[in-house]
Amino acid sequence: MKKRVFSGIQPTGNIHIGNYLGAVKNWVASQSEYENIFCVVDLHAITVPQDPKALRQKTRELAGLLFAAGIDPEQSALFIQSHISAHSELAWILNCFIPMGWMQRMTQFKEKSEKLKEQVSTGLFDYPALMAADILLYDTDYVPVGEDQKQHLELTRDVAQRFNAIYGDTFKPPEPVIAKTGARIMGLDDPTRKMSKSEADPGHAVNLLDSPREIIHKIKRATTDSLKEIRFDESRPGVNNLLTIYQLFSGLSREEIAARYEGKGYGDLKKDLGELVVEGLRPVQTRYQELTQDPAYIDSLLVASANRIRPIAERTLRRAQERVGLG
Ligand code: AMP
Ligand code: TRP
Repeated sequence: MKKRVFSGIQPTGNIHIGNYLGAVKNWVASQSEYENIFCVVDLHAITVPQDPKALRQKTRELAGLLFAAGIDPEQSALFIQSHISAHSELAWILNCFIPMGWMQRMTQFKEKSEKLKEQVSTGLFDYPALMAADILLYDTDYVPVGEDQKQHLELTRDVAQRFNAIYGDTFKPPEPVIAKTGARIMGLDDPTRKMSKSEADPGHAVNLLDSPREIIHKIKRATTDSLKEIRFDESRPGVNNLLTIYQLFSGLSREEIAARYEGKGYGDLKKDLGELVVEGLRPVQTRYQELTQDPAYIDSLLVASANRIRPIAERTLRRAQERVGLG
């Protein structure tokens, strides 16, 4: 029996190379080893204000991009979270077993709520309960994510264990899988901050659908430092970030890259990296253009996936409801 993988991604903003290198590329690479379930989390997206039309469109666009990036519908389920109502239903139950104090410790909420100020919804605070429901519904073994999701995974394990301690074995506590390289790609404009979908500065991130000109321009303008030497060094976040992106797109080792740029300048590195990223994203973009010729096809894949896995989710939900004494 193959182990089961579950992961999710929000259909908000534009999917960028941080999402790609930190999450999606790894999902694709290990697809054949596992039984995979990937989810476009539209219920998570509405924790912050969304335009309804744009949300629906972004949800399809993201699904199309995930297929284009190599998610194979034969090997992996890819579905839209709101298509399986068990996610919302289990989230409510879990809510009732998560102490407020656990939620209050979540750093992502603290960061997001500072930015949003008075617009913060109760749903944003409660976001990790829905995420725990996503994962626990499928008796997930592994959750491949970027570094920023580690704390949410710990909360998921904690609530599973707490529920199991009260009612007996019900949920499987999942293991996070966080890559050694690429789990935290930094902003091009400010390499001390994580590359994020919600940043407004156009120079912040390379998005998966950016044109070659935009990609080259953004990388050329990326913030570095006033030193000269090109090498992997955590204390020089700008160069380190560019080299990490180089490593992941080229597949070369750190030593090979360091040797290649010995005695060269930032201009050389940025020029080569721009071209490397353009070429790395080209197949994804080409496949995306092909796929979106027929939007009904993408929709049909999403519906088929949801229909295939819904029984797993419903079985787990029923188990939890019975334990608690509902119905
Ligand atoms: P999100 O954009 O928050 O829906 O994230 C989708 C996936 O991409 C999650 O697994 C995140 O951990 C991952 N991710 C988001 N931003 C980055 C980043 N800057 N570097 C690496 N991984 C990231
Ligand atoms: N919270 C995740 C993010 O912002 C997205 C997500 C929702 C997720 N549900 C999930 C990731 C379940 C892994 C497993 O990146």
